[in-house]
Parts: sequence; C-alpha cells; structure tokens
Amino acid sequence: MGALSLSLRGKRIAVCVGSGGVGKTTVAAAIALARAAEGGKALVCTIDPARRLANALGLASLGNVESRVPDHAFREAGLRPAGELFAMMLDVKRTWDDLVARHAPDRARRERIYQNRLYQQLSGALGGSQEFMAMEKLYELATERDYDLVVLDTPPTAHALDFLDAPDRILDFLGNETARALLLPALSAGKLGLRVFQLGGAYVARTLARFTGGEVLKDLSDFLQGFHGMYEGFERRAGVVRALLAQPDVGFVLVSSAAPLAVDEALMFHERLHAESMPVAGAVANRVTVPLAEPGAPLPDAARLREALGARDAGGLAERLAATLAEHELLAAADAREVARLFEAVGAPGVVIPRLESDVHDLGGLKRLAERL
Ligand SMILES: Nc1ncnc2c1ncn2[C@@H]1O[C@H](COP(=O)(O)OP(=O)(O)OP(=O)(O)O)[C@@H](O)[C@H]1O
Ligand SMILES: [Mg+2]
Repeated sequence: MGALSLSLRGKRIAVCVGSGGVGKTTVAAAIALARAAEGGKALVCTIDPARRLANALGLASLGNVESRVPDHAFREAGLRPAGELFAMMLDVKRTWDDLVARHAPDRARRERIYQNRLYQQLSGALGGSQEFMAMEKLYELATERDYDLVVLDTPPTAHALDFLDAPDRILDFLGNETARALLLPALSAGKLGLRVFQLGGAYVARTLARFTGGEVLKDLSDFLQGFHGMYEGFERRAGVVRALLAQPDVGFVLVSSAAPLAVDEALMFHERLHAESMPVAGAVANRVTVPLAEPGAPLPDAARLREALGARDAGGLAERLAATLAEHELLAAADAREVARLFEAVGAPGVVIPRLESDVHDLGGLKRLAERL
C-alpha cells in the first residue's frame, strides 16, 4: 500500500483539490479504486469527467446517480477488487433543486423559485455554483450513505481556492441584506433603474449583468421575495457542511503537476487549509517527468550509443539520441526540484505519479495510478 493510501486509511472523506487540468478527476477515481481494491466500499463523485473516463466507470448520464462499477468491467480490465467501487457525476442543477426543496416552506414557493430565471442562471452555469453544490452533495453523501470512503473531485477552476471561497460568495449574494433592503422597495414600486448593476460588489453585478432591461427587475424582485426567510436555513446548512471539512476523518489531497505555477497554487491551498484547520492527507505530484537513469548509473553518452547501435547508427542517430536523453534528464531534474518543494512544504505523505504515455481513461490506467498511491 502506498503512502497516500496509508494516510487515507482512517478517513471517510477525501477531497482532491488543485489547479485546472492537473489530474484531480483522475486521481480522485484512482483513490476510490485503491480503497475498493483493499476491500472497501468506495464512491468517487466526479465533476465533468472526460467522456471516456466516465464511460469506463459506467457513468452514462448525469443526475446525481451513484452507480456501481460492474464486475464484468473489472474482469475485462484484468482486475478483481476485494471491495466495491461506485461512481457518480455531480449534477449541479439537480443539487440546487434538492436544496431549494429542502428549505422551501411549501410546494408553491419551491415552484416559484424553480421558475425564476435568475435562479435558473444561478443553479446552472454561474461561477461558484459548482463548488457550492459539490460541498453540499459531499455532505449528503457523507452523512446519509454507508460508504467507507467518499472521494470528491473538485471543479475545474483556474484557481483552486475558489473551491473554498465560492460558497461564501453565493451566500453573500443570497443573503445580501443591504441589497435586499435597498432593492425591494424600489423593485416593488418599479422605480429601479440600471443603478442596480453597481450594487453589492462584483459578484452580484456579474450575476445581474446576465440579464437585460425590465426583465431584471421582475426576476430579481421575484427571486429575492421567493428566497425570503430561506436564507437562514441555507446559511446554517453551509456552516454545517463547512464544519464537516474540518473533521479528522476528512483528508484533503493536494494534486499538482510539477509546473511551478501549479505547485505555487497547491501550496497556497495548503496554507489556507492549515489556517482553517482542515486536515491534509497528502500531496500527489502528477504527470511528472521521471529520470530514465537509475541513481548512480548515468545514461549512455553518444560514444556508448554509437557502439551499442553499431551498423544501425546512421545519420547521427547516436548523437541525437544522446541529446534527447540528456534533455529528458534535464526536464526530470527540474520536475524533481518542484516536487521536492511541494512535498517539503506540505509535510504530509507525497506520492509521485509519472507522466504515462497516454491519457488515463480506463480501469487499467486507473489501476496503474492506484498502485502508486
Ligand atoms: N499520470 C498521468 N499520465 C498521463 N496522463 C494523465 C495522467 N494523469 C492525468 N492524465 C490525463 O490528463 C488529463 C487531465 O486530467 P484530469 O481530467 O484528471 O484533470 P483535472 O485536474 O480533473 O482537470 P480539470 O481541472 O479540467 O477538471 C486527462 O486527459 C487525463 O487522462
Ligand atoms: Mg476534473
């Protein structure tokens, strides 16, 4: 068992965070597979997985449906996990709808919110919405199901910290009392002009900017009235969800590539988790260029290659090969420095996953990752 799997042993929740494209989704699935291989019942909640990976996990559609990766899929990949692997794709809209249903005092109010165009934007593509709902879903999965481990993938944000900040921004928007106090009377009287766009900070402005003309006023008024009295419930719930993330049976996994900017971002996230007393289980340096040479055994130079190639050495092949090998080792050395910087600062167990020769889109590929975790 690898260092990260060991560190995650007593955990019930793992959250994979990191900057865009570093391998969060892939690592999240591999962590869940590793737990299933050890005999656990593991679930990975993915966000926007690549289509082929989704297919490999048997995820045909959205809808917050947890589905068990079937035995035959494992058999075809030559695997026989002792436990079970479940997977799902987060459905942001559905999670919002469930949350509204949970808080709405009655059916009429629920429907009124569902029909509101501002709500439809908010619950759909709007920035931060995915992060908010990922946390909400995690809470539900962790408290209402019996998985040994729930692994949460996080949304493909440019900035990893958005995952922790977005919910607050949305709550601020929903509960913006100043905006509410200023807006409601004006809205009901139909007197409000475009000044509304200057209110309540950039997030509110950006939200409202998606609407035009008189529709804004009606929708906004309706939305705020619809949410009236529900905000406290939302806020309380978000507080409980956040508190869950500081429990000792949670482990954040910092995923990074060996690119300096990705490492910087992982370290920023690490500091933030530390400041908020949220437990870090380890770091994964993914898609790392690893040296070809064994320690203490240098790679062959052009002369040795020429000798080894013999008659096959034509057109300067040995020289070009030697140059390519040397270049690879340089890249590997640069990656090694960044990985060391990451692991030293994080302190928790770190694992290196080499850059594989192709994308990881099937169970066999995930297994190769899982074995290193
Ligand atoms: N070790 C690896 N070797 C080779 N390819 C990899 C490796 N890890 C991940 N990949 C590939 O890199 C791509 C990005 O990975 P992934 O989707 O997991 O990143 P992500 O952090 O979830 O991205 P996003 O921020 O967009 O959600 C995928 O095509 C995946 O198959
Ligand atoms: Mg992803």
